[in-house]
Order: sequence, then structure tokens, then C-alpha cells
Amino acid sequence: MDPSGSALVTGANRGIGRAVALELGRRGLAVVATVRDPDTAGPLVAEAGAAGIALTVQHLDLGAVTPLDLPADLRVVVLNAGTQSGYLPIEAVPLPVVRDLLETNFVGQIAVLHQVVPHLRARGAGVIGVITSSSVLVASPFYGAYRASKAAMSAACESLAVELAPFGVTVREILPGPVATDGLAGSEHLDAVALPPYRAAAERMMASRDAVRAAAVTPEAAAVRIVDTLLADAGPLRSACDPMGDDLLAHWRATTDQERLDRDLARYAPAGDPSP
Ligand SMILES: NC(=O)c1ccc[n+]([C@@H]2O[C@H](COP(=O)([O-])OP(=O)(O)OC[C@H]3O[C@@H](n4cnc5c(N)ncnc54)[C@H](OP(=O)(O)O)[C@@H]3O)[C@@H](O)[C@H]2O)c1
Repeated sequence: MDPSGSALVTGANRGIGRAVALELGRRGLAVVATVRDPDTAGPLVAEAGAAGIALTVQHLDLGAVTPLDLPADLRVVVLNAGTQSGYLPIEAVPLPVVRDLLETNFVGQIAVLHQVVPHLRARGAGVIGVITSSSVLVASPFYGAYRASKAAMSAACESLAVELAPFGVTVREILPGPVATDGLAGSEHLDAVALPPYRAAAERMMASRDAVRAAAVTPEAAAVRIVDTLLADAGPLRSACDPMGDDLLAHWRATTDQERLDRDLARYAPAGDPSP
């Protein structure tokens, strides 16, 4: 894709979104960076200005989506903003946490799509990148509510891809593995460890996080992969943006549901695990 026109990135004040916004700007697109609190955008605006990147900031809270001021030449949309929480067994995850995950990671995303899709469809061109998570590819215990909120968007991406293809608009789902951000750091501790019936599995999961942390790439490295994917003229619906994500996606494509479940059972719930 010719890197001209404008891009919109949600959750652009930090983490992956910030790096993607700057990378799109370096490739030559004018960037609309949406942030929940415009007061947090100062460092982003300063870095963009120093790099000669055209970047403007707009307010967007996924819990209360208000009208966006979309540029006429909008052609790249990156739904990046998201929340991670509630690392508990399904039986214990509080319903307000479940509702917040779905509100932010699914309902709010659809509300943004309600605004950007008619715009891109009318132009007859563009790409929508949706950042979900490679966690949807693995039956990790205690991530169920988060994974479900991301899987909901994954399913929506498939439908959206078919709906928009006739109008020249493409959809790309990006499933990150570990990227070194506040979000990843916040997923290190599992509250499930405080629940005796689940303690052994939670401790096993937390120990496995060493390998996850070691595999983490920088947001900047992930952003290069994400922007390459979005600006490519062709490519698959789903892709990763880091080596662990690549491996998980390749394994997911090469195995059956039962093979994957058997692997995850052996990994996280081996025979002899404590019973209640
Ligand atoms: N990092 C990873 O390893 C990883 C792996 C898989 C998937 N992901 C996904 O990648 C995306 C970015 O992750 P990250 O690690 O960069 O996350 P992060 O460091 O936690 O940043 C999250 C971003 O989302 C914004 N956000 C959260 N709730 C919002 C709301 N209600 N309305 C508007 N903005 C909201 C945050 O804004 P505030 O600054 O205002 O809070 C922030 O900009 C997320 O969708 C995440 O689920 C990340």
C-alpha cells in the first residue's frame, strides 16, 4: 500500500499503540492518536514533533465512545486500546470485571467500528487492524475472561473481513505474543494464587511466565511488524508481531482442537494435581 493519507490508532499514549502511531508516522502517514486522557499525550506529541511526524490527538474512551473527527483521507485504522485484568478461575472472576473486559475489548471496539467503517467503505479503500492476543490460541487457565473478550473481537474480525471485502477495505487481526509494556507487566501476577484449590496451577502458570518475559519484544519491534502487515498489499487475516506469537499461530494452524487441548491439559493440569 502506498503509505500516504491518514491513520487512526487507539490507545496511542503508551505501549504498543504509541509505538504503532509513531511507526505509521515515520512511514509517511498523518496520524490521529486517540487517548483516553489527552493530558497523557504530551510525550507522544513531543516525540512526534521532534521526528517531523504529523500527529494530532483526539479523546477516546472505549467505555463511553463519542464522535471522532475522522480525516477525509483516513485509510488505516488500528484498534489497539484494550484492558487486561481478572486473572482468576472462571468461577471466581467478578462479574463487574467480566463486564469491563467485554465493554472495553469488544463493545467499545464495535462502537469505534460504527464510525470508521462507513467512512472507509465510502472511500472504497483502507485497512482495519485489530489487536487481539495470541492468548486466544492457548487454553491458559485464569485468563479465561480476558481471552474471551479478545476472542469475541477475533470472531468479529472474520465477519468484518467478509463484509468489507466487496468495498476494497481489508481487515487484519494481529495476535501479539509478549510485548514489553505496562500491560504485560500487569499480567505477571495471577490473583488465582490466593485461592487454595487453584494455587498449584496458578503457581505453575506464574512460573511459566519467566519464559514469556524472556521472549518479550519491544513495542517498537512489534510496531514495525504490525505496520508492515497493515501496509502490505496482501496477506493473511491473522498474523503475529513477535517470535512467540509466530510460534503459537503456526502451532494453532498445524494442530487440531483436541491436540491443542491435550497439550494445554498436560502443561497446566497434569495428573495428580490437588483435588479440592
Ligand atoms: N503487551 C502484550 O504482551 C500484549 C499481548 C497480547 C495482546 N496485547 C494487546 O495489545 C494492545 C495494547 O497492549 P499494551 O500492552 O500496549 O497495553 P497497555 O500498556 O496496558 O496500554 C493499554 C492502552 O489501552 C488504553 N486503554 C485501556 N482502556 C481504555 C479505555 N477504556 N478507553 C480507551 N483507551 C483505553 C490505555 O490508555 P490509558 O493510558 O488511558 O490507560 C493504553 O493506551 C491491547 O489490546 C492488549 O490487550 C498486548
